[in-house]
This record gives sequence, C-alpha cells and structure tokens, in this order.
Amino acid sequence: MKLLLTGGTGYIGSHAAVHFLNEGHEVFLFDNLSNSNKSTLKNLFKITGSEFPFIKGDIRDTDLVNGTLKSNDIEGVIHFAGLKSVADSVQDPLVYFDNNVNGSLSLLKAMQASKVNFLVFSSSATVYGLPERLPMDESHSLFPTNPYGKTKLQVEEIISSACSANKSLRCISLRYFNPAGSHESGMLGEQPKGIPNNIFPYISQVALGKRKCLNIFGNDYDTPDGTGIRDYIHITDLIEGHVAALNYLLTIDSLNRLKSLKQDENYFVSNLGSGRGYSVLEIVKEFQKGCIKDIPINITSRRKGDVPESYADASFASKLLKWKTKKSLKDICKSIHNFQNISSL
Ligand code: NAD
Ligand code: WQD
Repeated sequence: MKLLLTGGTGYIGSHAAVHFLNEGHEVFLFDNLSNSNKSTLKNLFKITGSEFPFIKGDIRDTDLVNGTLKSNDIEGVIHFAGLKSVADSVQDPLVYFDNNVNGSLSLLKAMQASKVNFLVFSSSATVYGLPERLPMDESHSLFPTNPYGKTKLQVEEIISSACSANKSLRCISLRYFNPAGSHESGMLGEQPKGIPNNIFPYISQVALGKRKCLNIFGNDYDTPDGTGIRDYIHITDLIEGHVAALNYLLTIDSLNRLKSLKQDENYFVSNLGSGRGYSVLEIVKEFQKGCIKDIPINITSRRKGDVPESYADASFASKLLKWKTKKSLKDICKSIHNFQNISSL
C-alpha cells in the first residue's frame, strides 16, 4: 500500500518508516523539518538500502498535501506531524493550536479531496488529564490540563466527526503513553533540539556528560519510592502497534463482530502502552547498568502539572488490534546505550 508518513523524519516517524517498508508498503515521508533533520534520510538509507521519497513541506499547506497525495496515488496516511512540548504549548498556545489542529484539519481536507480513506493518528495519553483511576482505559474522562493535550483532543474530535459524516473513512487515534528507546541499528533515536523535557533524552545527555545530573522532580509522591511512575513503551512496540492498527483498518469490514465494543464502526481510539509503570528511580537504576559511571541525581521540587502515576489499561488494543508490548524497561535502556555508542562513532 502507498503510505504517506507526516512527520516522517521525526523520532517516531523515522522508526515507522523502516517498519512499514519492511511490511511491504511503499513509504513517502512528508515533514517541514521544524523538529527533525534531513540527515535522518541518510540513516534510513543505511538501515534499509532504500531511498525514501521525501517531500519537505508543511501539513498546513493543503494544496501541497493534496498534490502529494494525488501525484503519488497515496492510499493511507500515518499522521505523526505535530509539535509535542507541553511546556512550549503553555508558553505559546496559539502556535500549538495552529500547527497541530489547523495542520490536521488541512491534512483531512486534502485527504477528502484526494479520496484517501485510511488514517492512523498519533494522539497521546495526555488527553486524559489527571488520572481518576488506574490503569486508564479509553473510557476514562478527557480533561487535558495543557494546550498540547487540548490540541490532541480537538484533533481526535475532528477525526471522529469526519468519520461520522463519511463512512468510507477509516481512522484510528492511538493514545501513546511514554514512548522511549531507539532502533536496533543504533542509527535512529530521540535527539530533541535544546534542553530535553523528557526523562530518557535527559538521562542520556547526563550519561554523555552533556548535563551534570538528572534532576528528579519530586520524591514525595504517594508511590513506593516517592518518585513519579509512568508507562514507558519501547519504540519498536509502539510502531508495531501502528502496523497492527493499519491492518485492522484494512480489515474492519469483515470484522463486524467488534460492534460489541461500542465504538463507531469506522473510527476507533486505542491506548498504546504496556500496562505497567516504572518510577524515576527504577529508571535510573536500570539505565545505570549500561553506563561506565553512576548517573548523578539531584532531588528537586515537583514539576508543575506532573501527576504521581500514569499507566495504561492496554486490554482494548490487545482485543481490537491483537497487539501488546513485548519489550521491557531493560530493552529500552539497552537500545538507548546502543544508539549512543553508534551515533558517537
Ligand atoms: P518529533 O518532533 O520527533 O516528530 C514530529 C515531526 O513532525 C518532526 O519531524 C517535525 O519537524 C514535524 N512537523 C511538526 N509540525 C509539522 C507541520 N506543521 N508540517 C510538517 N511537519 C511537521 O516528535 P515524535 O516524538 O516523533 O512525535 C510524533 C507524534 O507523536 C507527534 O504528533 C506527537 O505529538 C505524538 N506523541 C509523541 C509522544 C512522545 O513522547 N514522543 C507521546 C505521545 C504522542
Ligand atoms: C516522566 C517522569 C517526571 C524529566 C510527557 C508529556 C506527554 C507525552 C510524554 C507527548 C515524570 C520525571 C522527567 C526529568 C524527572 N508526550 N522526570 N526529571 O511528563 O509523563 O509525559 O511526555 O504526548 O504528553 O507530558 O514524561 O519523560 O517528561 O517524565 O524527574 O528531567 O520523569 O517528573 O515523573 P511525562 P517525562
């Protein structure tokens, strides 16, 4: 199948490019390079031996997206393009709503004009807001506490309405918990621009000596060791979830038995998580095993907006997509060490 990956040179998009190609799809990458680098294409070539067609552009440019879909006979879109920093979204909400919501709207308009009917959307567990119960399943209430999360929820709503109006559309929103880790080749990984917000890129930079210590945002939570607990999902598992999601969309017509799941028959929402949480201290301990020196830590106050604990109820994905995670925290840490070793050569 001919697939367009928006945000295709980003962290998750680049891993997806390899996996979807290996699944036999023809993969086109579309990205404005606002948070990624064209050099990713070289690494993709080294890994796969294939040149990925690349379109440098913004998803808000509806004509360009439409032209790209039409001229390449694209049949499905995996939509990763978006801005993802919670802190930046609080500083600059209008930029986030414009990029993420208007961008997705523009993409959907182009898909409609080009009659492209399959869409897998990168949503986030951030749409749930403060956990009312754990684990969180898809029926948990939706009260995102920051503009970034609100953009994801608005896009989900737009996609849902588009699916209600057009029964030929087949879409799924995947609510990721905490993606982490790197490709087995060591040539793809998470390399955010500027100071990392997320724990794995930060701890990686501490290990490399680029930052002095890991600031742990609070050790006075009501958790076994007092530090925050999250559901980390290995990037390979995450992408396999997308492959399973697309395969599901391609076969739903013959799977009417799932009507009992009480979701619209052409629009689905699914968590992607492992169902298990790890604390910050557990991460430090595991990550340290692959390091020559200890990771210095510094306990600081809680980060504003953080919740004590968050992890997925992943049973719907298991039932709907026949997917579940296979990799562990150990695998995540090992893959990051491998990425650091290879990328520093
Ligand atoms: P990333 O920043 O590495 O990749 C996103 C890519 O989209 C970048 O290459 C960027 O240049 C591109 N992009 C952004 N706006 C664009 C636009 N208007 N037009 C074209 N390209 C644009 O981020 P990622 O971690 O790979 O995340 C991919 C998607 O998954 C995002 O939508 C993000 O919100 C979502 N998500 C990520 C996480 C996470 O922790 N990484 C968690 C939940 C959801
Ligand atoms: C994890 C744990 C921190 C950094 C964010 C977004 C979410 C999603 C994933 C996109 C927490 C602690 C972190 C550090 C620390 N992204 N921590 N020191 O906050 O669960 O989720 O990324 O959709 O929307 O909110 O992930 O990696 O920032 O934090 O102690 O330097 O690590 O307090 O307990 P989070 P994270």
